[in-house]
Amino acid sequence: VPNPPASSSIVPASIDIPAEWAGLASHLAERPAVRRVLVLGAVDVGKSTLCRFLLHSAGAAGRTAALLDADLGQKMIGPPACVTLGRAAEGGGLALSAFVFVGATEPVRVADRALVGIGRLAAEAQADLLLANSDGLLRGPGRRLKAAEIASFRPDLLVALGGHPELGPILADHPALPTWRLPASPLVRRKTRGERRRARRQAFARHFAGARPLALPLAKLVMEGAPLAGAVPPPRLLVGLADVAGRDRALGIVLGCDPAAAVLRAWTTADGSAIGRLRWGMTALDESCHELPLPAA
Ligand SMILES: Nc1ncnc2c1ncn2[C@@H]1O[C@H](COP(=O)(O)OP(=O)(O)O)[C@@H](O)[C@H]1O
Ligand SMILES: [Mg+2]
Repeated sequence: VPNPPASSSIVPASIDIPAEWAGLASHLAERPAVRRVLVLGAVDVGKSTLCRFLLHSAGAAGRTAALLDADLGQKMIGPPACVTLGRAAEGGGLALSAFVFVGATEPVRVADRALVGIGRLAAEAQADLLLANSDGLLRGPGRRLKAAEIASFRPDLLVALGGHPELGPILADHPALPTWRLPASPLVRRKTRGERRRARRQAFARHFAGARPLALPLAKLVMEGAPLAGAVPPPRLLVGLADVAGRDRALGIVLGCDPAAAVLRAWTTADGSAIGRLRWGMTALDESCHELPLPAA
């Protein structure tokens, strides 16, 4: 199987495409009735690489494909702590279409918000093929979360990548759903904890590029949830800033609350006039977008 053209940055030039991956790409090219595909697999098995390949090959086959990235930590597109929706951009790469802030990068901790986000973004994706990437948590609470993610996303095809022993039971929970099992590439490489942390930091930093302090009038702000430590938010808490319709516009880092001026100050790229809602997160970021330890809730 020839490699895709090196001009496309969606798929790295060095990608290995196992014959079974190419087989799935042909299947999707020929079956317009398959509109929602969920990729499952353990951590570091090649889920993101497979999603990139399928997005590229579906586009090349003339389908309008989009990517729903439900992995909250290791993002393909958009900031961490968010479910994101992306599409292939002009000149290769991915462009962010929409996102839903869920508050943290640990999937089980923010499962309810993540499930709502998956359902919302799947409903608004303007694509005839929607590929969903997932986190690699398969055991215990991860297995229950996978069942809930399947219920929110309603795939018409499950793709199980790699041979993790928990994949069998997860697929068996959904006997009515068609399934493709694919092998991982022999070129898969494990990421260290440090590499993961760095990838999250860089993805946050890309989102906050060009941010500046913004004063948000408290009277105009509908709050969702509460800051972790009670009435006073911990320093530099991450928040989601949405418009009055509830559509996320940008993330923010809380710099302080000024009750005298009745404003909350946040570091953000958001246009203040568009913001009408604030969703409290459970993560804090320093000036360089490193995640900060928070006092226990
Ligand atoms: N088919 C492949 N060809 C080349 N490298 C791959 C392939 N699949 C995975 N890798 C490499 O293995 C690592 C993990 O892959 P990734 O797609 O990030 O896994 P996951 O999304 O499941 O955590 C990455 O460095 C990636 O480049
Ligand atoms: Mg990934």
